[in-house]
Amino acid sequence: MSGIFITGTDTEVGKTLVAAGIAGALRRDGIDVGVMKPIATGLPRKEGFRSHDSEILAKTAISSDPENEINPIFLPLEASPLTASKILNIDIKLDEVFSVFKRLTNKHEFVIVEGIGGVLVPIKQNYFVIDMIKEMNIPVLIVSRASLGTLNHTLLTVKACKEHDLNISGIVINSVRDNYIIEKSISETIHELTGIFVIGSIPFIDEIDTNNTVDLISKHVKYDLLIS
Ligand SMILES: Nc1ncnc2c1ncn2[C@@H]1O[C@H](COP(=O)(O)OP(=O)(O)OP(=O)(O)O)[C@@H](O)[C@H]1O
Ligand SMILES: [Mg+2]
Repeated sequence: MSGIFITGTDTEVGKTLVAAGIAGALRRDGIDVGVMKPIATGLPRKEGFRSHDSEILAKTAISSDPENEINPIFLPLEASPLTASKILNIDIKLDEVFSVFKRLTNKHEFVIVEGIGGVLVPIKQNYFVIDMIKEMNIPVLIVSRASLGTLNHTLLTVKACKEHDLNISGIVINSVRDNYIIEKSISETIHELTGIFVIGSIPFIDEIDTNNTVDLISKHVKYDLLIS
C-alpha cells in the first residue's frame, strides 16, 4: 500500500468527490490515510484553506496535516498551472511537491492524491500532470463523467496513461442520471476496449456534502480493490 492518484477525463468531473469519499471510507475502515492536492489554482478563499478542493479532502479524510502539506502549491488564478505561472510570474517548484508527497507517504499508510483537470494539463513547459504521476510512481484511478462523450474522453485518457506506462487501477463513472442501461453498456465497452474495469458508477444526487460523500462513495465504488 502506498497511494493512488485520482485523475479525471476533464475538470469538474468529480475527482474531489471521489478522492475525498475514498479517503473518508478508508479512514472509517481504520486505515491511516493522507490526502494531497499537489497543485491548485483559482481564486483564494477568504476563510479556511486557500483551495476549496484541499479543504474538502482534509475535512472528509479527517486529516490533521497542515495546509502546506495537503496543498503545497497554490496559484491564485483560475487557469492551468502553466498559464497561471506565466501570467503571475511564479515559478512552480516541483521539488516541493515531491518532498511533501514523500513526507506524506512516510507518515501515512495510504495517500490519496487529487490531480488538476485531466492528464494533459500543462504544469511547466513540456511537463504535464501525467509526468507528475509518473514521478510519484503510484497507480491511477480515472474519474469520467457520465454524458455523451464519455467513451471518447475515457479512451483518450487511458491511451495517454498507457503510453506513459502508468498502472491504471480502474475507472469510475460519475454523475449517472437515470440512464443505467446506457451506463452499463458503456462500462462493458470500456472494459472490452481497454482491459480496465469500471470499479464504480456514482449517481447524480441533489445535495453533496462532507456528511454524505463517504456513504455515497462506499456504496457505489469498489474502493477496497485499490488497496489490495
Ligand atoms: N455525483 C454527483 N452528484 C451531484 N453533484 C456532483 C456529483 N459529483 C460531483 N458533483 C458536484 O460537481 C462539482 C464538481 O465536482 P468535483 O469538485 O468533485 O470535480 P473535480 O473533478 O474535482 O473538479 P476540479 O477539476 O475543479 O478539481 C462539485 O460541485 C460537486 O459537488
Ligand atoms: Mg477537484
